[in-house]
Amino acid sequence: MTATLQLRVVEARELNPLIRMLRLKADDGSALPGYAAGAHIRVQVALPDGTQDWRHYSLINFATARNATNAPAEYRIAVRKEADGRGGSRFMHEQLKEGDLLTIEAPKNDFPLHTGPGGTVLVAGGIGVTPLASMAARRRAEDAPVRMHYAGRSQELMAFLPELRALLGEDLRVHADAEAGGPLDIDALLDDCPAGDRLYVCGPKVMLDAVLARTQARGWEHDRVHFELFTTSVAEEGDQAFEVELAQSGQRFTVPADQSILDCLIEHGCDPMFDCKRGECGVCTTAVLEGEIDHRDYVLSAREKAEGNVMQICISRAKGPRLVLDI
Ligand code: FES
Repeated sequence: MTATLQLRVVEARELNPLIRMLRLKADDGSALPGYAAGAHIRVQVALPDGTQDWRHYSLINFATARNATNAPAEYRIAVRKEADGRGGSRFMHEQLKEGDLLTIEAPKNDFPLHTGPGGTVLVAGGIGVTPLASMAARRRAEDAPVRMHYAGRSQELMAFLPELRALLGEDLRVHADAEAGGPLDIDALLDDCPAGDRLYVCGPKVMLDAVLARTQARGWEHDRVHFELFTTSVAEEGDQAFEVELAQSGQRFTVPADQSILDCLIEHGCDPMFDCKRGECGVCTTAVLEGEIDHRDYVLSAREKAEGNVMQICISRAKGPRLVLDI
């Protein structure tokens, strides 16, 4: 089990109407566990229904000393308010105050930065900028080529622009949809990537899917593209409720349109394995005995998806009215 820490909120500041930045420290001033660029912490949040849950937030660092995050004095995170989420981000925005204690788990890194030769291209969408900011600082610390494309709806809603401008100068390209009249041009961005550069993308699903589709179409090798999905909401327009049956126990539950199978099982007292809850890690892979799957993950291959024998229950859903799972 991962160790937990109690940290004090020493600063809570609204960067814009959607994003709140928090700085966390140990009460005794001791150094916190180190982390590498791309790492996140899990933070315990209180939900409106009185239950506790965990949310992931990437750790943000702009310092370019090579050892800046080896034994940091504080953690910095930023939280985007999700009006239609389950209440975790509203807790972080509306209830948590400076001086409060937060329970967190020590940092973990599912989005590691590959150091060494070659350039690094960072593609950030909205709050997805947080892990990429730490990667930019790390590559600067190594004197390695790095540039960032940072996209958002409008500059007013894009966090950390001053810090990123100071860190990256000309190597930061800012794209505000409202000013540009449309979304970031992924093809133009890829046209500019020298062979050998690695690309890291973090943002909403639509951005991730576009970058993955375009790099695949261009024949980029798999290990040149690294990604992390930035969402806590798995709902898509048109999602319907459906029934899941657990073949081993015979239990049946209705999965509401706005809930994942995983969360539904947890709510009913089951104990499924999971980690990322974003369809990226593969921990929640579950065998499916009956029913058509609406695959939404980044774990299974196209062949596995077509065969329809397994699914990621944290994010994928049913196309029809019912799924039978082999659990
Ligand atoms: S929990 Fe990571 S893929 Fe489902």
